[in-house]
Amino acid sequence: MPVTAKKHDIHMNFKIAVLPGDGIGPEIVEQALKVLKAVALKFNHSFEFTEGLVGAAAIDQTGNPYPDDTHRICMDADAVIFGAIGDPKYDNDPKARVRPEQGLLAMRKKLGLYANIRPVATFPSLIHKSPLRKDLVEGADFVVIRELTGGIYFGEPSGRSEDGNKAYDTNIYTKEEVRRIVNLAFEYARKRNRRLTVVDKANVLATSRLWRETVQEMVPDNSDIEVDYMFVDNAAMQIIQWPKKFDVMVTENMFGDILSDEASVITGSLGLLPSASVGIHTSVYEPIHGSYPQAAGRNIANPLATILSAAMLLEGLGLTSEASAVRNAVTNSMDKGIVTEDIAKGKTYSTSEVGDWITGAIG
Ligand code: IPM
Ligand code: MG
Repeated sequence: MPVTAKKHDIHMNFKIAVLPGDGIGPEIVEQALKVLKAVALKFNHSFEFTEGLVGAAAIDQTGNPYPDDTHRICMDADAVIFGAIGDPKYDNDPKARVRPEQGLLAMRKKLGLYANIRPVATFPSLIHKSPLRKDLVEGADFVVIRELTGGIYFGEPSGRSEDGNKAYDTNIYTKEEVRRIVNLAFEYARKRNRRLTVVDKANVLATSRLWRETVQEMVPDNSDIEVDYMFVDNAAMQIIQWPKKFDVMVTENMFGDILSDEASVITGSLGLLPSASVGIHTSVYEPIHGSYPQAAGRNIANPLATILSAAMLLEGLGLTSEASAVRNAVTNSMDKGIVTEDIAKGKTYSTSEVGDWITGAIG
């Protein structure tokens, strides 16, 4: 349903694919949609929302965790807002033929989403939630850029020997894959503090040596950026020990999976961190937290990470004042204590109450 208003400014029309997914996905995405509709009214744009199935919800209805219909909706859209994927009924069955997570991998591959971007930011009012000492995290502000469509997640061959006693996965990278993600990381660093940390395991892995060699070839054309290299084990330690020293970090698919989760908890703001996956086709915006099945349908989940993902989506569409309006409304809701139980200090508000408040603040 299109949401339109006539007021001022340049009217922009965008198609947005909506993929609520599993667990708390539907209820948090609903809040982000309210916010986007408020933005459309306030700034005189029209957003046309089309919903698609993904994850366990899609398996239940179609047998496929990323159905062709959903792919078509995504390809046809200017941006995708995504909730969460995963259902405990698949977690303890190692022989399940099809799993919700396969939907996510299929979506990344088919949309060519080769970069996952996770900003790690501190929110002053949440620093007490950090597992680290306040003086270590205060002011930490960096971005983890993870390669998302290559490496051991997708390398062939992968499987089992005939007798079932041996299993193998293959890690593969081409120079071209490294170049495109590192180029994007250089661009990010250029918009920030011009420091780039390349994380690898070049003391052991051939793929990591290819990464390092490729980055070294790119350095002369990016001499305005200070580049350093760090082994992944060391990086895992330094993220905890000196989170403030990082600006932009770039790494391969599996290292990025692990480090981005590690990075997400140090600020104490897990329920607030958004992410973007970008690449060849439509970009996807989603909260970094999971489907939180225990809270599904209870109207208690924190919608802020999804609302901030909507702000990243607006930015991705070039709507920067609109994105700032959303971020300001989120900051105000936190200042006023209009937040869900996970971060509340006093009175707690429900998922939809927080969504309504932010929607009202934008309007
Ligand atoms: C993530 C998740 C996924 C991944 C899983 C659910 C397949 O952990 O987005 O980080 O490993 O990439
Ligand atoms: Mg992960």
